Amino acid sequence: MTRSSFGRSVFAASFRLDPSFVIAPVSRRTFGSFVEHMGRCVYTGIYEPGHPTADVDGFRGDVLDLVRELGVSLVRYPGGNFVSGYRWEDGIGPAADRPVRRDLAWRSLETNEVGVDEFMRWAGKAGVEVMYALNLGTRGVQEALDVHEYLNHPDRTRLAELRRANGAEKPYGVRMFCLGNELDGPWQTGHKTAQEYGRLAAQTARALRSAEPELELVACGSSSSSMPTFVAWEAEVLEMAYDAVDYISAHAYYEPVDGDMASFLASSVDMDHFVHSVVSTADSVGARLKSTKRLNISFDEWNVWYLREFQARQDTGSTEWPVAPRVIEDCYTVADAVVVGSLLISLLRHSDRVTVACQAQLVNVIAPIRTEPGGAAWRQTIFYPFAITSRLARGEVLRVEPRCPTYDTARYGAVPALDAVATHDADTGEVSVFVVNRHQSQSVTLTVPVTSFGAALRVAESWTIADDDLFAVNTSDYPDRVVARPADDAEVDDGVLRATLPPVSWTAIRLCASRQDC
Ligand code: AHR
Repeated sequence: MTRSSFGRSVFAASFRLDPSFVIAPVSRRTFGSFVEHMGRCVYTGIYEPGHPTADVDGFRGDVLDLVRELGVSLVRYPGGNFVSGYRWEDGIGPAADRPVRRDLAWRSLETNEVGVDEFMRWAGKAGVEVMYALNLGTRGVQEALDVHEYLNHPDRTRLAELRRANGAEKPYGVRMFCLGNELDGPWQTGHKTAQEYGRLAAQTARALRSAEPELELVACGSSSSSMPTFVAWEAEVLEMAYDAVDYISAHAYYEPVDGDMASFLASSVDMDHFVHSVVSTADSVGARLKSTKRLNISFDEWNVWYLREFQARQDTGSTEWPVAPRVIEDCYTVADAVVVGSLLISLLRHSDRVTVACQAQLVNVIAPIRTEPGGAAWRQTIFYPFAITSRLARGEVLRVEPRCPTYDTARYGAVPALDAVATHDADTGEVSVFVVNRHQSQSVTLTVPVTSFGAALRVAESWTIADDDLFAVNTSDYPDRVVARPADDAEVDDGVLRATLPPVSWTAIRLCASRQDC
């Protein structure tokens, strides 16, 4: 260990990169997000008629621009806990005829101004695929078939003709459907036992498939790995639904607990363990059923969420039923951005089994994008690792095994200070490296030989998130307090990539052939 010019201690780390260390192709669906009718995600988030940037459909143009910049590929909709009491047909037809309903999940009023037709129009403008979540809380097979018929049936049937009368001539062609949301959770409207849910999920999946065999269907896994029934739920549900579904869902939220930053920075250790647990459970059910089919994971809710703060504010005895209240509008720090970067590294590392992932959520509600009604939209700190990873992760994911010191955590024991993954695009020859230094006081001098890719490589671009103030945030008054900055000293010299990684930092480096104009 040496001393840097800043007086901080420095350690050396390295890893090998090789184009043959392939895990799987990069799945574009890894860069999914989530829009729930919750708080201000929809109303004054994506939709605000009367906002200076609103288009003819009432969608905020400033938000659409940021969603495109974020590089979102797919959006899960319309919930979340909300969906378990939702009647999709309330949100179609003339706006004036749509009922106002209670949303029991978030104790607010749903005006139904935005329904599925509006959302599909928004998704088209944003250029994202829609993953539609069905209500299997208060509803069942028939309503799932109905919304599917409305969305995807071409013509002549009652609901297909209703869609056409509502302005959507062609079917929407939604391919992915979630069979409910977090039905293992006692808080969920229509909460079920694994037996009850497994049977309903299998019946619904079979019915949907008989209408459209190519659908991709997601069964609900546990709502978190801390549920007492974690993996037992998955095993029991899949015993009944294995042959009928394609994915099992995973949900995980991370936060610093009692100021334990060291463990929080190592959250991807938990995500790795979570994925291994669900994959091995699903595979063991598959083996027991003598199935040759392999299920993948749809990690359709993940993020940093200051959940304990939210829970502490519950049970206020409020008798209000507000419309689009400010709910869980977490303000994200530099440390949160580094953790989000490392969770993306974990998701990419598991690309062989995690082929869909949705950061929860997209706007205002635990989100990378924040807005003020009638005012500005801005990027939170966590916007940067998502946007840059989505843009640079191309081709195939390469396995990376860093050689580096460990540090101690109360929660996970000794943890490698570095977490990293890489991608290689054989068509363009480009290589991207994503790396997190989670040590709180030591910088890292990283060296990575890059001669195994055939052509000589150079650094095309490099980005870092780091700050002397780990708790710095972006606000409407100071929206660019934290941004990703070029990692100035990253360079390839004599076939070796060298970069300095500050304490608690996330870095992405794109390499291209030296002679290429890139
Ligand atoms: O994303 C916020 C909430 O977290 C979702 O509604 C629910 O599915 C999860 O518990």
